[in-house]
Amino acid sequence: MPRLTAEWTSDIDEVRRLAAGAVGEPDAAFARRFAEHFPTLHPLFVQLYGTREDGLEQLAAVVAEAAASWNARPLELKARDDLREQNPEWYLSNQMLGGVCYVDRYAGDLQGVREQIPYFQELGLTYLHLMPLFESPEGNSDGGYAVSSYRHVNPALGSMDDLASLAADLRLAGISLVVDFIFNHTSNEHEWAKKAVAGEPGYEDFYLIFPDRTMPDEYEKTVREIFPDDHPGSFVQLPDGRWIWATFYHFQWDLNYANPAVFRAMAGEMLFLANRGVEILRMDAVAFIWKQLGTACESLPEAHLLLRAFNAVLRMAAPSLLFKSEAIVHPDEVVEYVSLQECQLSYNPLQMALTWEALATRDPRLLQQALERRHALPAGTAWVNYVRSHDDIGWTFADEDAAEFGIDGFSHRRFLNDFYVGRFPGSFARGVPFQENPKTGDARITGTTASLAGIEARDAGGVDRVVLAHAIALSTGGVPLLYLGDEVAQLNDYSYVDDEATAGDSRWVHRPKRPQQRYAERSDAATDAGRVFRGLTDLIRARQGTPEFAGGELIGFDAKHPAVLGFQRPGRDALILVLANVGDDLALIDPRTLSGFHADAIDVVTGDEVDLTHGLALQPHGYAWLRVRSL
Ligand code: GLC
Ligand code: GLC
Repeated sequence: MPRLTAEWTSDIDEVRRLAAGAVGEPDAAFARRFAEHFPTLHPLFVQLYGTREDGLEQLAAVVAEAAASWNARPLELKARDDLREQNPEWYLSNQMLGGVCYVDRYAGDLQGVREQIPYFQELGLTYLHLMPLFESPEGNSDGGYAVSSYRHVNPALGSMDDLASLAADLRLAGISLVVDFIFNHTSNEHEWAKKAVAGEPGYEDFYLIFPDRTMPDEYEKTVREIFPDDHPGSFVQLPDGRWIWATFYHFQWDLNYANPAVFRAMAGEMLFLANRGVEILRMDAVAFIWKQLGTACESLPEAHLLLRAFNAVLRMAAPSLLFKSEAIVHPDEVVEYVSLQECQLSYNPLQMALTWEALATRDPRLLQQALERRHALPAGTAWVNYVRSHDDIGWTFADEDAAEFGIDGFSHRRFLNDFYVGRFPGSFARGVPFQENPKTGDARITGTTASLAGIEARDAGGVDRVVLAHAIALSTGGVPLLYLGDEVAQLNDYSYVDDEATAGDSRWVHRPKRPQQRYAERSDAATDAGRVFRGLTDLIRARQGTPEFAGGELIGFDAKHPAVLGFQRPGRDALILVLANVGDDLALIDPRTLSGFHADAIDVVTGDEVDLTHGLALQPHGYAWLRVRSL
């Protein structure tokens, strides 16, 4: 078998020949896509696997897999590909609204999810992220993030056929199905894991296994601990005495992407899911996928090469599929994953964390700075903005940014942790600590939006803070993502401590079952559920009717008030001025501050005319979305 050469032109015929030998001659559509994307894929393979004996063979196998997958792609999905090709920026629309839930907790099973479609439509969802639903170990499976098979749905939830037909129903309802692609690791029960441990030929190098502590000790000099409550460091010991890389839980084993067979295998799993009707893959834990001795083993250049290579494969065989990056790291690193060639979408953990930071401090400066400095993304890509997720909140702001305001990152994080777990006197929050690490002083926090914002503590500002946080997430640009149940103010669920499988992981406090009672109250303005639901649905409707909210362009606005965040979303004839008061008092915006605009503004949420001649008053934790025209 020849080896990879430096030039794609020298290898393309061999790859074509090998792929055709495996799956037959491709159709014209695939041949066109192959010709277009092979020149991208090949050099990435050379960079990643150029020194390997099997580089060319694996590349040909990937292409064969892509061709077979294209042949098997259902016609309605090919039609969807065409539609998306005509409107490639569909996800930048102001109609976009995401929802996320656990299948079992929210709806029992996949059939239960289908029954919720009318509600999802009522809410306005266009994007539904179903949390991991694949086969995974009994008991603790990190909420399904330990995958035992990417091709089988957890039988308690349904089957792969059920998933495909749910995807089709969602598609008809205008909702794109999003699932996790947990590609940094598999569970220890995955067949590859079993074969690797048994030393089965072809699988020995699927994971990172070491005979003794020599290499693990070397790596651990520079690698941070992610789940120190579960095990110290990044390795766990196998029953036979060897050590295996496990960044997260001891039963989640990191795959070895230095082996091209792993790339090929995972590309196959990705294509399989794409053909079931999944439209967006949430690329889990992207920062961790490549390891190199002497580094932090996070966000290495090869992680980007791998994402680019996966993308090139998809463009050949499932062209409308998108990637969403889950990188909860330093903001400089988060943004590196976002491009048309890597992840077209990305969580925005900085905006999320700084929204909570601003609510705690009643000071919007860090959030304002982040919006002005770190919000811009490459054309055609978008943030996914959320108030909270199924995970903990980590204070991932850049220390350099905070230092500009004289804020010390370490002590500020300690304050925020204390504040959100209710250790700080007068705090309105009822959160729970997560992974407190006594060695480093590091910690994160957990809690539902309502509990963190003060509703659980019966703080007078609770409901308004929930609405305010969403008013920010829904207006900065990109795809807003609701944690389903938060729109009816669901509270923390402390019963996780009673179940052995969840007791050790405080993230379960904010993953309650579907709050039936609260949903029943959602039209009752006398309840917290009703007030939050009203507030959020008003925002959602207003966003849908406000074309200025499409895309992500944002310009800062200095509201000249210590508690008020301000920014502008430019449109064609007018712009939307967003003001958000994170303080506990009425905020008066001086007329001179608004003197650059015509005095007649429109509140796009209420539809009312607003006269700016005498300035503007914002309620405590109040916001304004105003359509204004510059003078
Ligand atoms: C991601 C998930 C998180 C999980 C981890 C390991 O960060 O969001 O829930 O624990 O990956 O898969
Ligand atoms: C760490 C990881 C992040 C993951 C989280 C889960 O913060 O950086 O990827 O989501 O742990 O708790």
